[in-house]
Amino acid sequence: MKNISQIKNESINEFGSKWTQDRYAKIAELGFWKSEEMLINKYFKPKSKILDIGCGSGRTAIPLSQNGFDVIGVDITPRMIESAKKISSSKNLDIDYRIGDATDLEFPDNYFDGAIFANNGWVQIPGKENRQKALAEIHRTMKPNGYFILVAHQRYHTGNYLFFWIIQWIKFFLLKPLGFKFRELDFGDHFFTRPYKIENKKVKQFIHMTSKKEVEEQIKKTGFKIELRKRMGELSKEDVEAMEASMSKNFNSFKSPIFYICKK
Ligand SMILES: C[S@@+](CC[C@H](N)C(=O)[O-])C[C@H]1O[C@@H](n2cnc3c(N)ncnc32)[C@H](O)[C@@H]1O
Repeated sequence: MKNISQIKNESINEFGSKWTQDRYAKIAELGFWKSEEMLINKYFKPKSKILDIGCGSGRTAIPLSQNGFDVIGVDITPRMIESAKKISSSKNLDIDYRIGDATDLEFPDNYFDGAIFANNGWVQIPGKENRQKALAEIHRTMKPNGYFILVAHQRYHTGNYLFFWIIQWIKFFLLKPLGFKFRELDFGDHFFTRPYKIENKKVKQFIHMTSKKEVEEQIKKTGFKIELRKRMGELSKEDVEAMEASMSKNFNSFKSPIFYICKK
């Protein structure tokens, strides 16, 4: 368990760092992805009560509020919540933001009409059991027949990732059975390098490189029914072009994140 809480604390520190905060202040201005907006309009009832879990600096909470939803934004990183509050009040929006952990939500049962865990936040929770707990908490706090929009990246094996998977395989299937210990908790855990350093040391951030099969199994285990599963690229070419321009030339429709529309 020590490893899980260490990874969690390091992740919160990294999300709260100056570099990441500056980045997320800009991200907050981007608003909905086109694909996201399409699904929100389709699955969230107008003016309903929405949980934006892992809300970051408010990229989705802001347009949800501007579009008339009664949104509560929750994030585990205190600096994200500070920044979300500041950015939203500069837009004259009074959004209910709270510091909180998806694995232990403060809300009663059947409280929200809908929920969203946008932009890969869920796969940044360390430990498969904790990711399962987060899904269970979201399920518990949602009303029956409500929709939950989960976004998780794809597991791809090309480019730099080919090397990553070879190393993972060696660690998990050759060295672990021999008793070697690693920081990785689950097959697919990745500590990726951020493009800034602290005291001349590279800074890492945690993400679990999940598979579609794993996500689907976890969603179903919670009791949600998967109503739709679509890649961002299947919903909006514009989003893929925008991501390609801002992130990486290697990004394409097939590598774009996946939306899982889950019905309670
Ligand atoms: C990739 S960022 C996405 C932020 C925002 N949803 C967006 O789309 O810009 C992931 C966010 O999830 C938050 N997060 C990670 N683990 C969490 C947890 N257990 N409970 C709540 N928030 C969490 C992080 O602090 C971070 O702000």
